[in-house]
Amino acid sequence: MRGCFFIILSILRPGRSTRIEEENQVRSLVQAWSPLVWLAPGEEFLPLGVPEFLENVHAGDNYLRTRESVELLLQNRSSFLYGRKPAGTVPIYALVKSCTALGRFSKAIRSGWSRTNSVRSEDLNILTGVQNNDLLSKESSMDSYEEDNFIFDKRRYRKLHFHVTYWMFYPFSKGKAVCVLDLGFFGSWPIPLVGGKCMGRFKEYGNHVGDWEHMSLYFKTDDYPMAMYVSAHDAGAFYRYDRHSKTFIYEGQETRKGIFQKPIFPERVFTSAGSHPVLFSAKGSHGLWTAPGKHKFVRIPRLYDESGFGTAWPTWQNVEVLHAEDRNPLPGWMTFRGKWGNPKSNCHPLAKLGFNICEFVDGPTGIPMKKLNFQC
Ligand SMILES: *[C@@H]1O[C@H](CO)[C@@H](O)[C@H](O)[C@H]1NC(C)=O
Repeated sequence: MRGCFFIILSILRPGRSTRIEEENQVRSLVQAWSPLVWLAPGEEFLPLGVPEFLENVHAGDNYLRTRESVELLLQNRSSFLYGRKPAGTVPIYALVKSCTALGRFSKAIRSGWSRTNSVRSEDLNILTGVQNNDLLSKESSMDSYEEDNFIFDKRRYRKLHFHVTYWMFYPFSKGKAVCVLDLGFFGSWPIPLVGGKCMGRFKEYGNHVGDWEHMSLYFKTDDYPMAMYVSAHDAGAFYRYDRHSKTFIYEGQETRKGIFQKPIFPERVFTSAGSHPVLFSAKGSHGLWTAPGKHKFVRIPRLYDESGFGTAWPTWQNVEVLHAEDRNPLPGWMTFRGKWGNPKSNCHPLAKLGFNICEFVDGPTGIPMKKLNFQC
């Protein structure tokens, strides 16, 4: 049975050079269409490369926790929590999923392989290691046997077909100021503004260490994308690409969770230099928007994001292309399922009754736990 499998594998599997050719094509498209992200004017919390973040946290109990207290780190403007000026220095991580027979086939191999590794404790093994350096190491290579076993087949030409998710990492995300009334033992309760004024005091909720933001592109056949997905908080918008105007045109939106979120997305997203979608990172929270301005995303309590032309982040200057399903092993951190930040703290005294608001909330889950916005 096993032998039979490998014979089939040998017939279907194309030659190494075809694969490399395809990977190179994908790589240049991914770079050419990488977004131009405008950070908001006055943004304090800039993006950061993952390795620098990992140097400053330690792993345990499924969380990556800061080595120093968040309060101390926030007092120090040069601490890693404030990130780095991104242009050219901070990478954007482009995770590519191939939809070709080649990609699907190696995906089948990989999912068989990763099933045996998907036990939570295995994850923790990567992390409970004394050093976070383990997160920077590569997955063990599972396909040493593949290399020599495949027939070189140059005739097999595959049209490009893949989707890519561009991941941006920020070490800290600022929550929202909510007008609250202090009720002593019963904690602070959100109250509505009266004539635009807060009759209590403003308190910030929902800060967190670690912040993953993303947008995705779907490519099929052509050297331009068919569609784009832009994610802001728990909602997201689909756009289709219009080749003639070189803009992305709004198609629809989805709410991933929650019922209050129905933000307004603009009809068109423009491109820079004919290919880079122009996006806006909200001040403090970094939710991605397709236009500058004010974006209401939760009605009760009334929460909105602000974005605009602050600092440009030309992400194509530093794109790290990662292939989700082929021979190139992913960095260990890309497969981490735990939380990228400290556990929640300073929660409402009635949190146990389900009134779950905290000054600091949990860091976001790892990338494997997030739903993909495009299917093959
Ligand atoms: C602030 O952070 C920088 C960078 O991590 C560090 O070198 C410096 O010692 C810190 N300063 C204080 C006062 O903690």
